Amino acid sequence: MASSKNLFARAKKIIPSGINSPVRYYTPYPFFVKKAEGSMMWDVDGKNYIDYCNAYGALLLGHRRKEIISDVTKQMKKGTLYCAPTEIEVDLSELIYRNFPSMNKIRLVNTGSEATMTAIRLARGFTKKKKIIKFEGCYHGAHDYVLVKAGSGVAHIGMSVSEGSLDEVSKNTLVVQYNNSEELQSLLEKEKDVAAVIVEPVLANMGLVLPKKNFLRDVRKITSENNLVLIFDEVVTGFRMSTGGAQKYFSIKPDITTLGKSLGNGFPIAAVGGKSEIMDMLSPEGKVYQASTYAGNPVSVSAGVSSVKTMNKLKSKLYPKLEKNCTKLVSAIHDLASDMKIQHQINSISSMFQIFFTNKPVVNYSSAKKADMVKFKKLFEVLLKNGVFIAPSQFETVFLSYAHSEDDMGKTITAYENALKAVK
Ligand SMILES: Cc1ncc(COP(=O)(O)O)c(C=O)c1O
Repeated sequence: MASSKNLFARAKKIIPSGINSPVRYYTPYPFFVKKAEGSMMWDVDGKNYIDYCNAYGALLLGHRRKEIISDVTKQMKKGTLYCAPTEIEVDLSELIYRNFPSMNKIRLVNTGSEATMTAIRLARGFTKKKKIIKFEGCYHGAHDYVLVKAGSGVAHIGMSVSEGSLDEVSKNTLVVQYNNSEELQSLLEKEKDVAAVIVEPVLANMGLVLPKKNFLRDVRKITSENNLVLIFDEVVTGFRMSTGGAQKYFSIKPDITTLGKSLGNGFPIAAVGGKSEIMDMLSPEGKVYQASTYAGNPVSVSAGVSSVKTMNKLKSKLYPKLEKNCTKLVSAIHDLASDMKIQHQINSISSMFQIFFTNKPVVNYSSAKKADMVKFKKLFEVLLKNGVFIAPSQFETVFLSYAHSEDDMGKTITAYENALKAVK
């Protein structure tokens, strides 16, 4: 079989930058995957990795979770795309509603980007207002409405607005600092044409940044007082922080929610849902348009039904295990870095964490950007050499899955020890 090096050389000739999504690229070339199972990935060069990228958080249950593979296989024997309604679409929507009671009505889509794009269009249609407000460093997908001062790959590359995005669109996306509800409040005193505020309740695209104590509550209060639609982008946090996502974890009810990633545990499916009076604006009965050939395709929907049922069935073990392992890793890494006198911060919550090489707390985009990126790059490279794969960017998050074992924890701590020694 070809090596990663050779495959990358071939890929670069036919795929721009050799990869199909920007953060997958790192120097000199990324490893090419042969297969994955549980917590592990194997590459074509014969090496294996404990996976903490976890498909950027999508694989809450790990690779190839048996119930999901079995249900999807059964569905594939019955057909893969009908573009006509199925019972399992209703089942999945009802299951989502039972877990997210704020999502009174739901449309199933394919990606998180489609979900946030639809949520924003709905908010504009509902309020008849034009502008939206997002928070600096939050990433809501790769479309023009939200590709302004975004996190994830955009921050990694150091881009503020993508070339090719329309100024006419991006000027209607106003940006305030995460964790700064006063700035939101004062912006709204000046701006009257605002339809919605969209937020990642826990910012997982700037490394990991946690909401300060009253931040989300204040955002809810301000949006209600100003009659704005509050969109919780739970593409990462939905099902990951609890079966009811961050909104259950923090007890805050948004008007619209977007889900993705863990909803399908490795299959392309996402959802947008919220108050009936807003969701009923969707066509054909309403006047806000949304459509997709693959939306509600039975393969992804069967993965969604299987994922949600499995997460619900396992929940009393799932969330405690994820949190226990995450706490274990974080405290071990913190102790190691402290013993080596490496300036650092680790932000963590439920099954997510990230280390920043800085002596100041990381609470927003500007504090995250002050962390030492050269050290992070070194950390990534040595972790990889030691068989631990995290996302290759400071502006991403380390995600645990239910498949990580005690043995994985021990090996991961040793790998971080070696990586921190190299960073020192
Ligand atoms: C919070 C958040 N919203 C939306 C998206 C976009 O989702 P997708 O990549 O499925 O389009 C992402 C992707 O990482 C995300 O992290």
